[in-house]
Amino acid sequence: MFEENEHCAREGCALPTRLQVRIVAATLVLLPALALAQSIGGPLTPLPPVPALDPAQVQLGRKLFNDPRLSADNRQSCADCHRLDRGGADGQARSPGGDGQPLPVNTPSVFNASLNFLQFWDGRAQSFEGLVHLASADATDKENAWVAVVQRIADDPAYRAGFAEAYGQPVDANVIKDALVTYQRTLLTPDSRFDTYLKGDTSSLSLEEKHGYQRFQEYGCIACHQGVNIGGNMLQKFGVFDDYFANRGSVVEADRGRYNVTGDPQDLYLFKVPSLRNVAVTAPYFHDGSAPTLEAAVDAMFHYQLGRTPSDDDKALIIKFLQTLTGRWEGRPL
Ligand code: HEC
Ligand code: HEC
Repeated sequence: MFEENEHCAREGCALPTRLQVRIVAATLVLLPALALAQSIGGPLTPLPPVPALDPAQVQLGRKLFNDPRLSADNRQSCADCHRLDRGGADGQARSPGGDGQPLPVNTPSVFNASLNFLQFWDGRAQSFEGLVHLASADATDKENAWVAVVQRIADDPAYRAGFAEAYGQPVDANVIKDALVTYQRTLLTPDSRFDTYLKGDTSSLSLEEKHGYQRFQEYGCIACHQGVNIGGNMLQKFGVFDDYFANRGSVVEADRGRYNVTGDPQDLYLFKVPSLRNVAVTAPYFHDGSAPTLEAAVDAMFHYQLGRTPSDDDKALIIKFLQTLTGRWEGRPL
């Protein structure tokens, strides 16, 4: 692997595809999505505009999203952890659940999540529709928790009237989930400066930011963070070139990643590559919330995912580039 890197240093790794091939050889975990993204030209694409969905359904979904009755224990709304004024997350390494204890993993942003092709850190939800999760319900009481939630919402005359109007039917689990999903599909953050650049306005990035984008490609970050969400379209091992978990210590169940879904030893430590959209406003980072700053996260990526040490200048340029990925929500920058 060291030789591969030497080779890379000599040849400059100008083409991300070159690194992609190397990573396949090194880890055998790349999904076909990579080949696809490669074959359709530039792998990064701008966010689509916020879709115009049924306003009554969106409105209901927004109300549910902010309603604590949507949690198993009646205490936390979706918005308590997924705060739209904090990049769609909550700024904590691991959010407290209903019992006050930290959840097993860091809270990812809800912004643009509808465009991730798998959901959750371990990718266990295949579709956005399938994921609606009640944060404080453990696996054994999930179904009862849902029954209780549906009952609470159905008991509220205002919701009954709202669902009759928006869906023409009584409240049940399906329409509650549909309203939530519909609302979350509107949580897109288009018009970041980088997207404006991708659409052809090259003046929207400074020279340093453009160089940062170049470094992001040359070092091979783009081999994993790619597609419309600059991430969110494949699973990758965390710790390709060094053992992240041995170095960090105290490995817990959530650290096993995809293995917890499939039971396949080859899936140990595989995680969904997170989206880098709005990454400058969603610290702390990683599934365990262990990186407090963007700089710490980028350092770890160089060490564990690329096996390289960048110059300070290159690292600073990449961080400047990442800061151009902050989009707009309801007309204002996040
Ligand atoms: C107590 C904090 C908390 C609450 C409340 C909460 N979430 Fe989450 N949410 C999380 C955590 C933590 C994850 C990651 C779980 C995992 O990967 O195993 C997550 C994951 C998600 C994801 C997947 C994002 C991705 O990129 O994988 C979506 C979408 C989401 N939540 C929406 C919601 C909705 C809708 C509600 C309300 C019904 C809600 N959340 C309530 C903490 C919370
Ligand atoms: C081999 C694939 C791969 C490469 C190459 C890679 N990353 Fe990552 N990146 C990941 C994975 C997987 C995670 C999630 C790790 C975890 O939390 O378990 C991640 C997480 C991140 C995060 C934290 C995001 C968050 O919301 O928690 C940042 C920032 C990041 N990467 C930036 C970069 C940069 C910059 C580069 C290039 C220097 C890079 N990555 C190269 C796979 C990769």
